[in-house]
Formats: sequence, structure tokens, C-alpha cells
Amino acid sequence: MGTLCEKYGGWALVTGGSQGIGKGFARRLAAEGFDVVLTARRQEILDATALELREEFGVQTRTLALDMTQGGAIEQIFEAVKDLEIGFLVNNVAFSKPAPFLDLSSGNISKQVYVNVEIVAQLSSHFGRQMRERDRGAIINVSSRTGEIAMPYFAMYCATKSFISILTESLWFELKNTQVDVLVVKPDQTATEGYLAKNPTIWGDAGIQTVEECIEESISALGTYAGWLTWPKSRDDVAELRAMPLEEAITRNGEGMLSVFTEQLGAG
Ligand SMILES: NC(=O)c1ccc[n+]([C@@H]2O[C@H](COP(=O)([O-])OP(=O)(O)OC[C@H]3O[C@@H](n4cnc5c(N)ncnc54)[C@H](OP(=O)(O)O)[C@@H]3O)[C@@H](O)[C@H]2O)c1
Repeated sequence: MGTLCEKYGGWALVTGGSQGIGKGFARRLAAEGFDVVLTARRQEILDATALELREEFGVQTRTLALDMTQGGAIEQIFEAVKDLEIGFLVNNVAFSKPAPFLDLSSGNISKQVYVNVEIVAQLSSHFGRQMRERDRGAIINVSSRTGEIAMPYFAMYCATKSFISILTESLWFELKNTQVDVLVVKPDQTATEGYLAKNPTIWGDAGIQTVEECIEESISALGTYAGWLTWPKSRDDVAELRAMPLEEAITRNGEGMLSVFTEQLGAG
């Protein structure tokens, strides 16, 4: 069996590829032979990750430093890669803030919609069309377990993640009979730089998934499943919540958020 690069061709584009789950995908795809485009805000971290990929895997890299909450991000990305064939797209960046929904500012709501909805849909459409034209390629959109069942105090985030899941699962069917593979990945708590900075001690001994576990499960699911909840514990938890009356499940999520995020809940 050949590499993923031989199967899908071209370059990989990973948004938020400088650390965390995005970096995990970038490393995994570089190991499969892909040249990789990485986007993120901080140029120095992008440069360090790109250097790591070049030195460790002998691939080419391109970096694009931009803040995806700012209008025009979509056009900047298209411009930065217009000379490349993107064979593997990972839509990974998200924007979130835990807060009571009514305390989120209008600007915060708009940014969550722009980053988590607009950018994911536009990049999937733009590069998906090119892949359909070539009849090969792969799209992985990173959603979240929180997109499965309402999560009070994280309403915009989980609603936008639900959008990503439904959009991507629909696209999976539409491209099912082509050589373009589509998957939405739904991580639970995963030990990334971003997650650990915001949640150093929460969830007690409930455990946490490593980035490598999350990536391996995702790559294994690609080409077979439309959506994949990573981490066995998460699959068990979601199955348990789905078996409850809806209001009971939402209440459990809401009370869990209240107990964990009390200090972080504030106007956004
Ligand atoms: N970790 C978890 O437990 C978990 C659980 C469920 C879902 N997820 C999802 O997994 C994805 C990645 O999460 P993560 O935990 O790996 O995050 P992370 O460790 O914070 O990494 C985020 C990446 O995105 C970049 N980024 C963040 N904000 C950006 C912005 N406004 N514009 C451009 N780039 C930006 C960061 O670089 P810069 O900071 O330099 O911009 C970094 O490369 C997200 O979609 C998240 O919702 C994560």
C-alpha cells in the first residue's frame, strides 16, 4: 500500500498547523511525504514547526502568518497557495470563548461564525472543487465532541462545531463515489498546548487523549467513516448522553461546565 501522498497527491494545507492537533496532522502528513503549508498567527512558532518538518521528513514547507478572526483571511489563504495543488486539507483552527451566551459581545459572536463556520465552509468548497476536478484528495475538518450534544456556556462554540460536523458528513456522502475522502474529526479533551494552557487541572483523573492518539484515530477513520469521535472514553460518554432524555443530557453538560469553568465564565 502506498503513502497518503501517493494516494491523494499535491501539498497538504493545515490551518493552525504550528502546534497542537494541527501540528500533529502536519507531522503525520509530512511523514507520509506531503509538502506542507502551515497557517497560524505567530510567525516564530510557524517557522520552528516548518523547520522541524523539513529537517525530520525532508519535505518542503510554506508558512502563512495570519489571524483568522480578521476579515480577509479566506482570500489571503487562497492567494498564498494559488500556485499549489492542495491534495490534503485540514481545517483545524477554531475560535471560542466559554461564557453565558447572552454575555458574548456581538463581535465575539461574529468571529466565532467567521472562523468556525465561514472559513471552514469556504475552504472546503474551494479546495473540494479542485479535488473533485482531479478526482483525488482528502479533507479533514476538525470539529469537537461538544458539537454532539448542547453544551451550555459554550453555546456558540458547540453550535458552530455542530455545523462543521453536519456540513462535513453531508459532503462525505456527496463525494462518496469519487476518490476524494472527507472526514470530520471530533476530538474530546486532548493534551494540546492550547487545551493545557486553558485547562491545566480540570476533569480530575478522567484522563486526556494525546495528540498522537487523536491523529492516528483520525487517519485510520479517513476513507471509511464520515465522522469520528476520537478517544474510546469520549465515545462511551457520548453514547451514555444520547441514551438519556435530551434535557437530562444538556443539564449534565451545563452543570459540568458550571463546575469546571466558573472562574473562566465572563463577558466576552
Ligand atoms: N484540544 C482539545 O481538547 C480539543 C477538543 C475538541 C476539539 N478541539 C479542536 O481541535 C482544534 C485544534 O485545537 P488545539 O487544542 O490543537 O489548539 P491549540 O493547541 O491552541 O493550537 C491552535 C493552533 O491554531 C493557531 N491559531 C489559533 N487561533 C488562531 C487564529 N485566530 N488565527 C490563526 N491561527 C490561529 C495556533 O497558532 P497561533 O496561536 O500562533 O495562532 C495553533 O497553531 C480546534 O478546532 C479545536 O476546537 C480541540
